[in-house]
Amino acid sequence: MKAAIYRRTGPAAEVLSVEDVDTPDPGAGEVRVRITASGINPTDWKTRAGLTGQDPDSFQIPHQDGVGVVDAVGEGVDDGLVGQRVWLFLSAFGNRYGTAAEYSVLPVAHVRPLPGDAPDELGACLGVPAVTAAHCLLVGGVGDPAALRGRDVLVAGGAGAVGHYAIELAKHAGARVVTTVSSDEKGELARAAGADLVVNYREPGAVERVRGFTERVDRVVEVALGANLELDLAVAGAGTVIAVYANEPNDPVVPTRRFMVANATISYVLLYGVPSAQLEAAVAWTADAAGSGALSPLPITRYGLDDVVAAHEAVENGAVGKVVLVP
Ligand SMILES: NC(=O)c1ccc[n+]([C@@H]2O[C@H](COP(=O)([O-])OP(=O)(O)OC[C@H]3O[C@@H](n4cnc5c(N)ncnc54)[C@H](OP(=O)(O)O)[C@@H]3O)[C@@H](O)[C@H]2O)c1
Repeated sequence: MKAAIYRRTGPAAEVLSVEDVDTPDPGAGEVRVRITASGINPTDWKTRAGLTGQDPDSFQIPHQDGVGVVDAVGEGVDDGLVGQRVWLFLSAFGNRYGTAAEYSVLPVAHVRPLPGDAPDELGACLGVPAVTAAHCLLVGGVGDPAALRGRDVLVAGGAGAVGHYAIELAKHAGARVVTTVSSDEKGELARAAGADLVVNYREPGAVERVRGFTERVDRVVEVALGANLELDLAVAGAGTVIAVYANEPNDPVVPTRRFMVANATISYVLLYGVPSAQLEAAVAWTADAAGSGALSPLPITRYGLDDVVAAHEAVENGAVGKVVLVP
């Protein structure tokens, strides 16, 4: 099969190539998926660049997320799955066969059916962004989306991939959502996702506008804790959970006493280490929301497999929306 691979970590143009590799067979408990679209996330280029770990032991096909059709199953897997359209998550986690190829082989536990009318562009973007958003909305709470009904949620960066799905999932659960963006273009995306109020955080009076919407949020889905400390503290109160899923170039100084006075909780999230029951809850909610048509794709930029270097560079340079590779 044709696959994008790297044998050592480094800059995209130096380490990524497209080659023919043996098409893998699924082992026990695994499925093979013919990939129709491969979603690229920041974690994919950071891993390829060597920012998160070690070089691969022989080769690595990148990308955690994707969509495709099951074409073979391993021992112990229901062969009724063959022909099923699925979305994939954590495909390249502890696995050489990520989704940037014509086929991926991965544990059956890491695929979910994709509703017939859902576009590939949606299925390719659910794994990292939507599952992270779902977990950020559930972590430290009762673990049930129904508990968000009527609650107030602040989503920082509502036009980002995680932010987009945080808005859609929170609205689907019946929450009221205020979100922040940095431009009119991104504001339109956040409004289209269903946010009740969109605030440009670069404009004067942003904190007051958010406080005008609500004086206390139940939950913050936070992409930049240090940059947004004052805003988060302005709407944090007893029981507020601030779920932080991204780091900044410099770690913030957390004002402990002010968070103590607020009786707020900061909860740090890294998808790769989420306990399995909580991961399952986030995946189940994502699958349910996608199945009921509550989730939408972000604007998509498509690249062919041969253009994997340009695709990685686009994500690395902060492309708005999602970058998708089509094998
Ligand atoms: N912990 C995890 O498991 C996990 C999972 C997924 C993603 N991540 C990480 O989370 C980050 C975002 O991922 P993504 O896929 O959502 O990226 P993305 O689609 O590029 O979105 C990032 C968004 O954050 C916004 N942003 C940056 N600074 C902000 C600020 N101070 N206030 C409000 N918004 C701000 C950006 O918009 P503006 O700059 O225009 O405001 C952008 O819309 C990446 O660093 C990624 O590696 C971590």
